[in-house]
Amino acid sequence: MIAVTGAVADAAYIVAAMLFILSLAGLSKHETSRRGVVFGIVGMVIALAATLAAITAGAWGQPQATLGLGLFVVAVVVGGAIGLWRARVVEMTGMPELIALLHSFVGLAAVLVGWNGALYDRGLSGALANIHHAEVFVGVFIGAVTFTGSIVAFLKLSARISSRPLVLPVKNILNVGALVLFVALTVWYVMSPELWILVVVTAVALALGWHLVASIGGGDMPVVISMLNSYSGWAAAAAGFLLDNDLLIVTGALVGSSGAYLSYIMCKAMNRSFISVIAGGFGIEASKKSHDVVGEHREIDAKSTADLLVGASTVVIMPGYGMAVAQAQHGVADLVQKLRERGVEVRFGIHPVAGRLPGHMNVLLAEAKVPYDIVLEMDEINDDLSSTDVVLVIGANDTVNPSAAEDPGSPIAGMPVLRAWEAREVVVFKRSMASGYAGVPNPLFYRENAQMLFGDAKEKVEEIVFQLSLN
Ligand code: TAP
Repeated sequence: MIAVTGAVADAAYIVAAMLFILSLAGLSKHETSRRGVVFGIVGMVIALAATLAAITAGAWGQPQATLGLGLFVVAVVVGGAIGLWRARVVEMTGMPELIALLHSFVGLAAVLVGWNGALYDRGLSGALANIHHAEVFVGVFIGAVTFTGSIVAFLKLSARISSRPLVLPVKNILNVGALVLFVALTVWYVMSPELWILVVVTAVALALGWHLVASIGGGDMPVVISMLNSYSGWAAAAAGFLLDNDLLIVTGALVGSSGAYLSYIMCKAMNRSFISVIAGGFGIEASKKSHDVVGEHREIDAKSTADLLVGASTVVIMPGYGMAVAQAQHGVADLVQKLRERGVEVRFGIHPVAGRLPGHMNVLLAEAKVPYDIVLEMDEINDDLSSTDVVLVIGANDTVNPSAAEDPGSPIAGMPVLRAWEAREVVVFKRSMASGYAGVPNPLFYRENAQMLFGDAKEKVEEIVFQLSLN
C-alpha cells in the first residue's frame, strides 16, 4: 500500500482549487461553458480522492480510519445518489428552488460543524483558543442565517408560501438589532465561551435569516438567491477554518465572492440598492396604493399573427418564464428560421431576470440552437424598439411591464424593463390576463398597439410556424 501523506492531500487540494477557478472562468461564456463543467467535475473528483487519502493516511487498518472511511463512503453514495436523482428529474424552471434547498444544506452543515467545534475540546489556549471561539461563533451565525433564509426562499419560489414581502413595522430595527447583538455576543463568547451564548446566537441567526428573506418581495427574489449563494460560500469557508481544510476555505471564498458579485450585478441591472436587498428590503415600504389596471384588451389568433409577421421587416422576440414552462424554445427557433428565410430581421431582447434563474433564457435559446449573435441584452435592444415593427412577448410579463418605468408607486418601480410598448405592434403570448411573478398587473396588455394571443406558448408558436409554411 502506498502511504499517502497529508502533504500530498494538500497539494491535491491546490490542484482542485485551481480547477474550480478555471471552471468558474469557463462557465462565464457560452462557448467555454462545457469545458468549465468538465474542470469542475475533475476538480471535485480530485478533492474527494484527496479527502479519502487524508482520512486513511498513515492509519490504514486502524478502527478510527475504518470508521472515517465507512462514513465517507456512505455520505458520498447517499448524497451522490440523491443529487443525481434530483438533477435528472428537476425541470429547468424548478432549478432556483432546488438551489435554494441545497444552500440550506450548506448552512446547516456549517452550523453543525460550528457546534462540533464548540463541543470538541482541542486543548487550545491563549490567542489560538480565542481565534477558534470566534471561528465557531461566526460560522454558526452565517450558517444559521443561510439555513433559514434558504428555506424561506425555497418556500417562496415553490409557491408554498406567498412571495409578497413581510413588512413588520419595526423590521429595520429588528435586523440591525440582531446584528448588534451578534457583535456583542461574539465578544462575550470569545472572552468566556459558554454554551448558552452559542444557543442564543443560533436562535437569533435562525430568526434573522427567516426575517431577512421573508421581508423581500417577489421582484427582488433573484438577487436574494444569489445573496444566499454568497452566504453559503462564506458559511463553507467558515467551516473550512474550523476543520482546517484549505480547499473548503478556497472554495467557500470563491462561491462567497462570486455570489456577492453576481448579486451586485443583478442589483445594478434591476436598479435596486445592494445594501437595501441584503438588509432585508431596508428602506422599502409596503405600497398602500391599489394597482388594478382597467381597460379593454384586444385578442389576436395565430393566423393573424403570422400575417402580421410576414408584413414586418423587423421583429424582436422577448421571451420569459412562460416560454420555459411551455418548452416553446424549439418552436421559437423554427419560427425565427422561417422568418429569416423570408428576409425578416429577427432579434431577441433578453431581460437580466427573465425566467427564474440568471441566464435562463440564454440557456433555452442555446439549447434550441438559436444563433448567439441575434440574442441581445436588454440594454442593447431597448433603443431600437421604437423602430421595430413587431414585438412578440412570449411568456414574459414583469420584464415588459410599463408600470416599472411609469408608475412610481408600483412595487416594481425603477426596475429597468424591455420597452416592448414602443414597437409598432405587440403580440403577447400567455394563457390568461394573470399577473407575473411579482404579482403586479401589467398595463401593456391594454395598450392600443398590443394584442393578446391566448393559449400555451408552444402550441401557439407551432400554429404560427404552420401558418407560415402554408404560404
Ligand atoms: P413572469 O413575470 O413570471 O411571467 C411569466 C408569464 O408567463 C406569466 O404571466 C404567465 O401568464 C405566462 N405563462 C406561464 N406559463 C405559460 C405557458 N405555458 N404558455 C404561455 N404563457 C405562459 O416572467 P418574466 O417576465 O420572465 O419575469 C421573471 C420574473 O421572475 C421577475 O419578476 C423576476 O424578478 C422573477 N424571478 C426571476 C429570477 C431570475 S434569477 N431570473 C428568479 C426568481 C424570480 P399566464 O399564467 O396567463 O399564462
